[in-house]
Amino acid sequence: MDQAARSYVVANAADLAPGAIKRVEVDGRGIALFNVDGTFYAVNDSCTHMRARLSDGYVVEGGIVECPLHFGKFDIRTGKAMSAPCTVAVRIYPVARDGDLISVLFPPG
Ligand code: FES
Repeated sequence: MDQAARSYVVANAADLAPGAIKRVEVDGRGIALFNVDGTFYAVNDSCTHMRARLSDGYVVEGGIVECPLHFGKFDIRTGKAMSAPCTVAVRIYPVARDGDLISVLFPPG
């Protein structure tokens, strides 16, 4: 039987200014929510190096987050690891916006 993606409203757009990061917890998972120049992105809030919270990191330029522990970097839009010591991509989740409401979509399973 096919299962549909699950959608969770996690924030109001007005509460997350461009360049800001917000940690949200959804269905037992920590998600780092980013506003990059007015577009919202959701990333698993656990660095693939040693699990520091990316929501405690820094947006060093549009679309790149730096981990607060060892300063590895990820592309927020794709999850791709951009600098050492990070070599494994971080999981990203689709985001939907309906007016002021921001939702994160979890695939089935
Ligand atoms: S825990 Fe993120 S770079 Fe080491």
